[in-house]
Amino acid sequence: MNRYILFFFLFCTCNIQAQNVANYDESKVPDYILPELLRCNDGTAVTTITQWENKRKPELMEYFYSQEYGRTPSENINVKYQILAQNPKALEGKATSKQIKFSFVENGKTVEAFLLLYIPNAAQGKVPVVIGYNFKGNHSTTTEEDILYSSAYKELKKNDRSTWTRGEQTNRWSYDRIIDRGYAVATMWYEDIYPDRPGFEERSIAALFSDYEANVDKPDKWQAIGAWAWGLSRIADYLETEEKIDSEKMAIMGHSRQGKATLWAGVQDEHFKVVISNNSGCGGAALAKRVYGENIAIITKAFPHWFCPAFSRYAGKEAELPFDQHQLIALIAPRSVYVASAVDDQWADPKGEFLSAYHAGPVYQLYGLKTLESDTLPAIDKPVVTPSVGYHIRTGGHDVKDYDWEKFLDFCDLNF
Ligand code: GCU
Repeated sequence: MNRYILFFFLFCTCNIQAQNVANYDESKVPDYILPELLRCNDGTAVTTITQWENKRKPELMEYFYSQEYGRTPSENINVKYQILAQNPKALEGKATSKQIKFSFVENGKTVEAFLLLYIPNAAQGKVPVVIGYNFKGNHSTTTEEDILYSSAYKELKKNDRSTWTRGEQTNRWSYDRIIDRGYAVATMWYEDIYPDRPGFEERSIAALFSDYEANVDKPDKWQAIGAWAWGLSRIADYLETEEKIDSEKMAIMGHSRQGKATLWAGVQDEHFKVVISNNSGCGGAALAKRVYGENIAIITKAFPHWFCPAFSRYAGKEAELPFDQHQLIALIAPRSVYVASAVDDQWADPKGEFLSAYHAGPVYQLYGLKTLESDTLPAIDKPVVTPSVGYHIRTGGHDVKDYDWEKFLDFCDLNF
């Protein structure tokens, strides 16, 4: 082999290997340049809210639609709600639980999704609500025996009966604490909306849209994260019909992959006044250009059904990204955002998650709002918070803990 060809071959192999291995060495973080928030693609500086909203914001939205999460369909999907169960003495009498089946019907297809809602009994009048997906089914969030398994759960997990155990992830859902603090809480199994595995889009919500077939090979094809974000908005639509819920006070919280979907839902839907990302990492709050922990090559290879296909073009080429995740966070402004990390969750790059929240600052400032003051990662278990932007890094690993809920609810209290 010609020696130049050999060198080229070796160079390519090393590069591919480098992309597929997570870097945990701060000294190997590249000297990245973050794309500016307040400068339009034609070089114009953004100095007013009108310029931001009418010119710069649509430019950035277009990046996220075309390069990362795919294009959200604008069509309305028919939905019917059916209350399947109601228990006025849930959570030892503290709350009323309601289980609602959403039937999305379009294009000759149906997708069913099951919402579990707890409303505090002690509250007078309307209450704020926190909405979030769960990983393992509504039955995993509590030991209450009357929680139903969704139709998708019964089908997708029919050969995996061990996961049918109740209450396996109660630690992630501090229901008592949430209810005691006067909040309602609503959760749904995220796979009701889009099964979390490649090759299952046919039975996801995406298949109900009329342009589904036409989009199959498009680089900006809408996939799981986009669909999960859409599903959060549909939960908000339902909650608007609930008498006891204050629809002006809706917060969303998502952990990890659901944190990625939560941030994207928060950007697109003004229903959500508070948006909370927990350990959302790569493709969520973490800056991609730091290439620390999970990176684009790793995530798009392991989860080809999450982002739009165009995102994988940046595998190993984070420096070429014309946008980054601090811009995603800034697109939520002037509504409030809280980012949470865990010190042992280096895969999600806590520092990169923090820096995104910090660098979103200029847009909040444009609205006259206070943002994070320092670009130094705060001490462990010492949140830094303004009513608009909050951040904490907690002791421990990749999870949602009581500590996190305590801080999230404090942040919600500041806003509601
Ligand atoms: C994997 C994945 C992450 C994701 C996480 C989760 O670790 O690589 O990107 O956030 O799963 O959802 O728990």
